[in-house]
Amino acid sequence: MVELKLQVNYRCYASTTELPVEYQELLDCAKKALSKSYSPYSAFKVGAAILLENGTLLQGANQENAAYPLCLCAERNALAVANIQYPSQKINAMAIVAEKENIFVSPCGACRQVIWENELRNAAPILLFIQGPNGSVYRFDSVADLLPFGFSGNELLE
Ligand code: THU
Repeated sequence: MVELKLQVNYRCYASTTELPVEYQELLDCAKKALSKSYSPYSAFKVGAAILLENGTLLQGANQENAAYPLCLCAERNALAVANIQYPSQKINAMAIVAEKENIFVSPCGACRQVIWENELRNAAPILLFIQGPNGSVYRFDSVADLLPFGFSGNELLE
């Protein structure tokens, strides 16, 4: 038996002003996307934004439904927009924020898995900027740090 440990790598910025301007704009874009959230059931508004390799910014926001399991997260909506409208553009970065301040907006497991597959499609990691408590921002250089042992699908092709 061998006991192993995994390390999670991330950075914490006390404020968005510590970030390069392009990522500040990405976070601002995610905040603006909050107005597009349809969340009458949870009242938990989530906004996401994507920065493509060509500089284009795209938005996503959570879209709920009275049949609760049909609710779609902001992150997956933003990725769907990117995949459909810009299928050949690499996704460089994604920002995730909530209207509710002072919380870390932890992406759900399903979104982590979908972001992971987008990294595989991209053949490059996607930088994640996630709202943290007290105006802070957490940066993950890859969703792999949030999803160890992610399912790649390679097993399906063998
Ligand atoms: N939600 C997101 O859109 N993204 C997250 O990272 C966490 C959860 C949404 C789903 C649902 O509409 C609401 O937040 C409450 O779970």
